[in-house]
Amino acid sequence: MAATRPRVNATVADRPPRVLERLEALRAWTDASMRPVHFVPTMGNLHRGHLALVEQAAHDGARVLVSIFVNPTQFGPGEDYTHYPRSLADDLAALAATPCEAVWLPDETAMYPSGQDLRFRVAAPAALGSVLCGAHRPGHFDGVCEVVLRLLWQVRPARLVMGEKDYQQLLILRRMLIDFSIPVEIDAAATVREPDGLALSSRNRYLDAAQRQVAPGLHAELVRVAEAVCAADPGTFPALERSALERLAMKGFEPDYVSIRSAEDLGPGNAVNDRVFGAARLGRSRLIDNVAVTRQICR
Ligand code: PAJ
Repeated sequence: MAATRPRVNATVADRPPRVLERLEALRAWTDASMRPVHFVPTMGNLHRGHLALVEQAAHDGARVLVSIFVNPTQFGPGEDYTHYPRSLADDLAALAATPCEAVWLPDETAMYPSGQDLRFRVAAPAALGSVLCGAHRPGHFDGVCEVVLRLLWQVRPARLVMGEKDYQQLLILRRMLIDFSIPVEIDAAATVREPDGLALSSRNRYLDAAQRQVAPGLHAELVRVAEAVCAADPGTFPALERSALERLAMKGFEPDYVSIRSAEDLGPGNAVNDRVFGAARLGRSRLIDNVAVTRQICR
C-alpha cells in the first residue's frame, strides 16, 4: 500500500508546498532543478485518496507537484461544476503533511489562454470515451483528455500518478499518451475506501446521513458481481449485470450502469482480465466504482 512506502523525500515533507499561480512561476520552479517531476493532477477538495497518490509519487528523488484545477470542460450542462466543492486552504494544509513540494493553481486563463471559443480540443475515441461513464456524460472524457494534455505541456513531468477509482479515465489517458507518443508513464494507485467499502470521493459530501448508510452498497454489489464472474461463462454476464441493477434499485440507488468489461480496452468481458464497473445516483450524488476480477476475489 502506498501509505506504508518509505518516504524517500522525507527531508522535504511536513513543510507547506510552494504555491505556483502563474505559468512563469511554474516554469521557474520546473527549470530550477534537474530532479524529475512526478505529477498528481486533481480538482482539489483533497481526501485520503488524493493524498495516497502524493505519497506514491514520492520515489527516486523526484519532486512531487500537485495541480488543483476544477476543469469546466469536463462537466456537462446541468452537472455540478458551479457547486463542485472548493477548499483550497484545507487542501494546502493537508498537502503540508505530505511529500508534495509545489502546487500548481492555474486559473481559467492560464489553462485556456485562447478562451473557450478559440481553444483547440481533443476527442477521446468513442470505443473508450463514449461507453460506461462516457455514455452518461457526453464529452466528459474529451474534456479530461484536453485538460491533462494542457497540464502535461505546462508541467512536463516524468510520471503521473492517478487513481484506479476512475479506471476509465486512467485507461483513456494511458492510451492517449501512447497514441500521441508522449513519453510520460502513468502509475496507477489502488482505490482508497472507507472501512465499509465506500470509495473516497469529493462528491460523498453531497450524501445525507441516510444516503451515507446506503452508499457502500454500490461497492458491495460490484464485489458480488466480480465473485460471480469467477465461476461464470461470459454468456451469462448480461444476466449478472441486470440482477445487480435490480438489487441496486431495491437498495435505493438510481443506477446508470453495471458492466463487466475487459480491463485492457473496456471491450466486452471475456473472463480473462475483467473488471466490473458501476455508477449510480444517490440523492444529489453520482457514485462510481470498479472492482478487478482478481485471484483474490476468485479464491
Ligand atoms: P479528481 O476527481 O480530483 O481526482 C484526482 C485523482 O485522484 C484521480 O487520479 C483520481 O482517480 C484519484 N482519486 C480520487 N478518489 C480516489 C480514491 N478514493 N482512491 C484513490 N485515488 C482516488 O480525476 C480528476 O480529479 C480529474 O478528472 C483530473 C484528472 C484532475 C482532470 O481534471
